[in-house]
Amino acid sequence: MATLLHLDSALFPQGSASRDITAAFVKSWLEQHPEGKVVYRDLAASPIPHLDAAAVGAGPDHELRAVLAAELAEADAVLIGAPMYNFTIASTLKAWLDQVIIVGANTGPGGPVASTPFTIVASRGGSYAPGTPREDFEFVQNYLEKVLTGMLGITEIDFIVPELTLAPVKPEMADLIPLAEASRAKAHEEAVQKAKALAARHAA
Ligand SMILES: Cc1cc2nc3c(=O)[nH]c(=O)nc-3n(C[C@H](O)[C@H](O)[C@H](O)COP(=O)(O)O)c2cc1C
Repeated sequence: MATLLHLDSALFPQGSASRDITAAFVKSWLEQHPEGKVVYRDLAASPIPHLDAAAVGAGPDHELRAVLAAELAEADAVLIGAPMYNFTIASTLKAWLDQVIIVGANTGPGGPVASTPFTIVASRGGSYAPGTPREDFEFVQNYLEKVLTGMLGITEIDFIVPELTLAPVKPEMADLIPLAEASRAKAHEEAVQKAKALAARHAA
């Protein structure tokens, strides 16, 4: 039985691009895998604690860290909703990473989770695409790519990026509404197709 680990970290439950798109991914994945198991954590609604000294000291023997690391180890694929807040990821998602990355237990190239495919829905109000004025302020994709490859040794990371999500609510961005809509539609389609492709791989 295939298992998907699904994390959301968007603050607002309604109208969230990342939540809508991760939900579309899960729906598509389950259509291919009706018997599949989805392990879900809403990190905004039920935040996990920050890493503390005791948890670092205990490593894999720490109860919460062991649970989170087992969820990661048992996943055939990982899906993360990662909205941009102040140019980077939600602090709740950082807390998950700090707890789940256990040096010596699941880290390094060729480590136990290195071949797990990650799909990340990186929603943002503006655009940080190459060539845009704020290109250098992008610390979601850049950070997640580095931490997942550098710490967990992950070799397959796909980013789906619904951008300009603030266009409908910011008058100064009104001209960008068509681009925002196109970005959201593209992200939705990419999520559906990626989920199908991953599910087909599990079935093989
Ligand atoms: C506290 C806060 C900080 C934000 N910081 C940024 C930011 O630095 N850059 C940006 O483009 N959008 C920023 N936004 C807008 C969100 O990235 C945008 O609303 C996004 O769509 C949220 O993700 P969601 O739609 O998946 O819920 C911020 C929103 C909030 C609430």
